[in-house]
Amino acid sequence: MANTILVTGGAGFIGSNFILRLLQDSAAPLVNLDKLTYAGNPYNLASIAGSRLYEFIHGDICERSQLRQILEKHKPAAIVHFAAESHVDRSIHGPDDFIRTNIDGTFALLEETRAYWSALPDDARRRFRFLHVSTDEVYGSLGPADPPFSEMTPYAPNSPYAASKAASDHLVRAYHHTYGLPTLTTNCSNNYGRFQFPEKLIPLMILNARDGKPLPVYGDGKNVRDWLYVEDHCEAIATVLHKGLPGETYNIGGWNEKPNIEIVGTICDLVDEMAPPLANPRRALITYVKDRPGHDRRYAMDARKIERELGWKPRETFDSGIRKTVRWYLENEVWVRDVTSGSYREWIAMHYSS
Ligand code: NAD
Ligand code: TYD
Repeated sequence: MANTILVTGGAGFIGSNFILRLLQDSAAPLVNLDKLTYAGNPYNLASIAGSRLYEFIHGDICERSQLRQILEKHKPAAIVHFAAESHVDRSIHGPDDFIRTNIDGTFALLEETRAYWSALPDDARRRFRFLHVSTDEVYGSLGPADPPFSEMTPYAPNSPYAASKAASDHLVRAYHHTYGLPTLTTNCSNNYGRFQFPEKLIPLMILNARDGKPLPVYGDGKNVRDWLYVEDHCEAIATVLHKGLPGETYNIGGWNEKPNIEIVGTICDLVDEMAPPLANPRRALITYVKDRPGHDRRYAMDARKIERELGWKPRETFDSGIRKTVRWYLENEVWVRDVTSGSYREWIAMHYSS
């Protein structure tokens, strides 16, 4: 299987969108290693479960002997590493899993990859790629007049989540610098789209608005994020995988900065339009709540390098992407019911109780 791709964390939000896209566009076999935490959902990939090109492996990136067996058996030509704990609020309540998966797990994966890669024949070793999927949050917070984050912006992570991702980015960088491992790192802004677990802003607000529940906006609602439609992110990752230069990092963003309160207002209007009406317009559900501790004020990405060097830029506008996303959550009741049971309800009760 000369061109097999090993994906980690492929049952999560972005990973499952990436896998579906890749299997649609290429004939490369794909192996998905996922621990199926609360955020992993095999249902996202039900449509390809019978594909000859796809194999799911239930496992943990921290388990080195299992990693070794997978690498020996499947001999991947590339690894795309999504697996992570990804929610800032959870990292504030309990950082342990973030340190374990994001730092120790990435280290375990890098070590086993290095051993596997070192033993490859020359040509395969040259062509091998390790793509590490990371975030804009490693750069910290911007003031209102600051220029967007570039690849040269110094790291200043503020949450345990951001710090754990920054640590993993540094490990990836070191494995290229020290051992020559052909790594690629992508740092992307906030994604939205189908399959996002409804603990994150956009799906949480869509579902609460649908059900007439309060819409909890942190602080003054003026924190700014740079939103990118998930399919654009997946296309950017595929572009970096095929055209990126080993050792390089690429910032990915939507050129779409918006304050949270504007996002929530837009969602209210779209849900009013698409779902059965409530007694009052859904904007009346907006409720300002206590701010997130250490809440970063503004993120914005300078995505000129990936456009200039690799020719990628976002295709979806925010207006069309958010419309598709609201519609998807309203039309996929079975998926929503599946992920909003059990541990999800416990999280919501615990996090929003104070
Ligand atoms: P997600 O939380 O939806 O999915 C994470 C996946 O990783 C889940 O399927 C989970 O089961 C799996 N996983 C967790 N721990 C694991 C372990 N120890 N071993 C194997 N699998 C494990 O996350 P996402 O939003 O899809 O993010 C994917 C990646 O992209 C992450 O690395 C994240 O930091 C990065 N990222 C996310 C965003 C965003 O807006 N969501 C933006 C930029 C970068
Ligand atoms: P989130 O989706 O958690 O992503 P991140 O923290 O990684 O940017 O949050 C996006 C923004 O929305 C962030 O500024 C926090 C804010 N937010 C709320 O105001 N209310 C909420 O209930 C949530 C989950 C987030």
